[in-house]
Amino acid sequence: MGPVNGWDYERLAEEKLDANAHAYFAGGAGDEVTLRDNVAAFERRKLRPRVLVDVGEVLTATTVLGTEIALPVVIAPLAMQRLAHPAGEEATARAAEAAGTIMCLSSAATCAPEELTQGDRWFQVYVWRPRAKTEAAIEQAVAHGYSALVLTVDVPYIGRRERDIRVDFKVPENLTVQGNLFGGGFDASVSWRDLEWLAGYGLPVVVKGLLTAEDAALACEHGAAAVVVSNHGGRQLDGVPATLDVLEEVVDAVDGRAEVLLDGGVRRGADVLKALALGARAVMIGCCGASRSPAKRASPTSCACSGRRSSSGSRCSAVGRRPTSVVHTCDEVAAAHHLHRRPGEPHLVAGVARKQDLVAGLDAAGVGAHRCDHARPAVRLGRRGDDQAEIRLRLLVGRLDDDEVVQRLEREIDAAHVIAARPR
Ligand SMILES: Cc1cc2nc3c(=O)[nH]c(=O)nc-3n(C[C@H](O)[C@H](O)[C@H](O)COP(=O)(O)O)c2cc1C
Repeated sequence: MGPVNGWDYERLAEEKLDANAHAYFAGGAGDEVTLRDNVAAFERRKLRPRVLVDVGEVLTATTVLGTEIALPVVIAPLAMQRLAHPAGEEATARAAEAAGTIMCLSSAATCAPEELTQGDRWFQVYVWRPRAKTEAAIEQAVAHGYSALVLTVDVPYIGRRERDIRVDFKVPENLTVQGNLFGGGFDASVSWRDLEWLAGYGLPVVVKGLLTAEDAALACEHGAAAVVVSNHGGRQLDGVPATLDVLEEVVDAVDGRAEVLLDGGVRRGADVLKALALGARAVMIGCCGASRSPAKRASPTSCACSGRRSSSGSRCSAVGRRPTSVVHTCDEVAAAHHLHRRPGEPHLVAGVARKQDLVAGLDAAGVGAHRCDHARPAVRLGRRGDDQAEIRLRLLVGRLDDDEVVQRLEREIDAAHVIAARPR
């Protein structure tokens, strides 16, 4: 069966993208607390349904900044889309047009504003140094029919994205990126005064990336036509609130003076409904990262090793051995992590969604298989279900008796989103 929901697309993307691209698209800043909380906030909010209301005719169409769209969902600006697929931003624009909505082109896209001529488009503005580069891009956008300028205000400096650091992220040489994302190209001196400079181009100005009533009020005072409650999908300042949690505060502060949009964690139609119910005019959707999917959000459980079953109901493969800790992330990724203490027994048995996650974890912890005298890594590839590749690595690593190394390894694997538990 093909993909049924956004999570399925995430898993497919994870299978198809190489480690470099996947780290970039899926990663958040720091410990990715905000990234996860964006999604969790939608889960925390419950719907309060009312019945026997005439819903014989249902319309999803609305307008944002005067443009009619078929559904209250706008495509958020995402940099470097050709990193995911050669058709890149053009393909997204086609999809947006087919869906009857607006696509916002990033200032750090892999095509110039003038190359994207299809459908309703907004242009997202990063203010680069020198400013003339930014001005040239805005002029192109204005000349080519973009209908709003979206100033992103949460990137004076790029966030610390540790997945990128781990894979030593590189922009492939065959890609031309419009802005200098990774080389300190942002003009960090941008301030509220610059909203007036942007308004001078004659298009409505949208302020994207605020999270407080105070900033929402300032945006209105400086003439913003709309604000986007956004934390950049958890990719900038880790530890800020989930966007849904601050939406009402912003809506109250704006008090009808501008349109309020929200992005971050929107994964389903019901999420859109929740945002609208709390006062958003529409939402923007960005990029689903694999770590954000429920399939990867594990709850530590015991398993058959200790006489009980894992959350998935499956039996632990290490039955009969002496586990000191067992955690199953979930059945779908068959992620289990077992630590044993007996020399000669497997010290670590991990099923991970992607082999490179574990290898990266091992490397980062300085216990890469190649560095262990007694290492005998064996990789078994299997299939679970139709589309879920299961990769199991069984590592016979003699050196894992060292507590400190084990803990470092666990931390690294954790960061690579294979959840591990401390040995008890
Ligand atoms: C891979 C990626 C690239 C992004 N690039 C940009 C960008 O160039 N400009 C921008 O304003 N926001 C950018 N964002 C942030 C999104 O516009 C949006 O705020 C965020 O993705 C919303 O969260 P969601 O991914 O949970 O939907 C990017 C997000 C991702 C995931």
